[in-house]
Amino acid sequence: MANAVFDAVRTVLAVREYQDKPIPDDVLRRIAEAGRLTASASNRQPWQFVFVTDRQSLQELGRLVKTGPYISGAAAAVVVAGERDNPIAVSDVSRAVQSMILTAWAEGVGSNWTGFTGLDAVRDHVGLPANYNVSAVLPLGYPKRKLGRGLKNRKPPQEVLSADRFGNPLQL
Ligand SMILES: Cc1cc2nc3c(=O)[nH]c(=O)nc-3n(C[C@H](O)[C@H](O)[C@H](O)COP(=O)(O)O)c2cc1C
Repeated sequence: MANAVFDAVRTVLAVREYQDKPIPDDVLRRIAEAGRLTASASNRQPWQFVFVTDRQSLQELGRLVKTGPYISGAAAAVVVAGERDNPIAVSDVSRAVQSMILTAWAEGVGSNWTGFTGLDAVRDHVGLPANYNVSAVLPLGYPKRKLGRGLKNRKPPQEVLSADRFGNPLQL
């Protein structure tokens, strides 16, 4: 049976090269809503999402995120931050990131998680208050090249899936 959510999970890949083509506002809005509507522990929603489309600002993000220089070529990027004093915020933020990446992918927009720690300069760059930690910058853009949809480099099922107790093969 067709399952659009599973198909998105099955095929999504990290996209690091983007076409020089803007993302329509309605698509960006759905990506933003996907983040905002994500569940969080005790429904605290301890996050902020800053959408960046200004070219100069994207280039600066590409400089600041050492593991994501290609942000500079994206059509947009989302700076995702969680409350610094909330120990569960990083889990909440991670879940929101996945919601946004999958929603983007379903619209044909490629993305990726970049950065994780040491992103205070990114926080300052987008004007977030000091009580937030930036956990991710998500570049967004239409993929430049066709990626191997559905082909993933992952551990095989028998290495990571068990039935009832660890080590019993899961046979479904
Ligand atoms: C928490 C997290 C942090 C990541 N950080 C980076 C990063 O800083 N730069 C980058 O290019 N990719 C980053 N990635 C992407 C992973 O390297 C990528 O998803 C993984 O190698 C699997 O590739 P695939 O998504 O294309 O299957 C990150 C992914 C996660 C989940």
